[in-house]
Amino acid sequence: MKKIALIFGITGQDGAYLAEFLIKKKYKVHGVVRRSSSFNTSRIDHIYEEPYKKNRKLILHYGDVTDSMSVSSLIKKIKPDEIYNLAAQSHVSVSFEVPEYTASADGLGALRILEAIRFHRLENKTRFYQAGTSEMFGRVKEIPQNEETPFYPRSPYGVAKVYAHWITINYREAYKIFACNGILFNHESPIRGGTFVTKKIISALCRIKYGLQKTLYLGNLDAKRDWGHAEEYVEAMWKMMQKKIPSDYVISTGKQYSVREFVDYVLEELNFSFSWKGKKLNTKCFDERGNCIIACNKNYYRPLEVDTLLGDSRKAYRELNWKPKKNIKDIVKEMVDYELKKLSND
Ligand code: NAP
Ligand code: GDD
Repeated sequence: MKKIALIFGITGQDGAYLAEFLIKKKYKVHGVVRRSSSFNTSRIDHIYEEPYKKNRKLILHYGDVTDSMSVSSLIKKIKPDEIYNLAAQSHVSVSFEVPEYTASADGLGALRILEAIRFHRLENKTRFYQAGTSEMFGRVKEIPQNEETPFYPRSPYGVAKVYAHWITINYREAYKIFACNGILFNHESPIRGGTFVTKKIISALCRIKYGLQKTLYLGNLDAKRDWGHAEEYVEAMWKMMQKKIPSDYVISTGKQYSVREFVDYVLEELNFSFSWKGKKLNTKCFDERGNCIIACNKNYYRPLEVDTLLGDSRKAYRELNWKPKKNIKDIVKEMVDYELKKLSND
């Protein structure tokens, strides 16, 4: 019998990589898609199968984690072996603009899924993965951060994810559901959403290189992040779900870089000669002809910032035999190559 997985958030970066990964592992994959006025399935178009096809490996359903009835009826109908809750309003800055919606989707979304597992008496069948985040560490209490580090979230997004984290543990302890939290640090890829800083930097600098754009505007360049590759991180999610006993795991590279250092790597990859001038909001970067190619703008600063994130994944290495392989330069190169190819095809 093939294992059945249900992915909430299948149209996102991680959902697309995870769906592909599980199909390769011979799972039957069900995915939940939100209704949208424009197409939102571009990341999974290459694995999409028409509904009239027999024995499909991928089946899509409309649904939304803010809608209890749709969550419950999908879980009742599909009775999955594994549920991956990747659905979220995942942009930290946007969470300050839509805090209530973020709380409902990112916090209560996990509860709605867990409660459906319990209500339909699937506690002994259905395993649950919660997409937790290093944002929960926020104003960090220790460096590096591991599974025991206390949380101090600094955004409505981080606060909502802390609720999802603890409700997952609560249902594991109260109802013996196999439920685990991945505490994933930032992970990127060529299919990263365009408003996250890595993808924004790379697409703008590629366009500037080709004379299609003049300046890239950014916010805080001093924040430090622990950036890994999304494709490797979805494998860690799956590994957590195959254990005998459910637990929570930090997934990270153990190396951190500032946003400015990330920019430097991209400029070097694109063979720019460049120089930085000024400080904080007045920081600017010039190319060899003296054109200002990067400037800061206060609109991209957040009401509160997470200044530094650095993960300690030794538990994942010990118990899951998981370790990141790609470093920051590999990730930058892969993302730049993808972007340049896309530009030359346009
Ligand atoms: P993403 O690209 O923004 O994808 C989010 C997914 O959730 C999309 O499929 C989105 O659908 C869906 N979604 C949003 N609101 C929904 C709702 N109300 N009901 C159902 N689906 C909804 O995010 P990602 O980078 O793949 O991240 C996946 C998960 O891991 C998220 O929960 C994120 O918070 C968490 N996480 C990410 C990182 C990271 O660095 N990438 C690190 C730690 C944790 P649309 O396509 O229709 O928008
Ligand atoms: N998005 C964005 N846009 N960020 C900027 C910009 C800009 O123009 N300029 C500077 N930054 C800084 C942000 O202030 C932040 O410190 C850092 O770049 C990274 O921002 P994002 O790429 O938006 O990611 P994030 O760290 O806030 O959140 C991501 O990682 C979390 C895990 O730590 C998201 O994927 C979250 O969903 C995820 O949980």
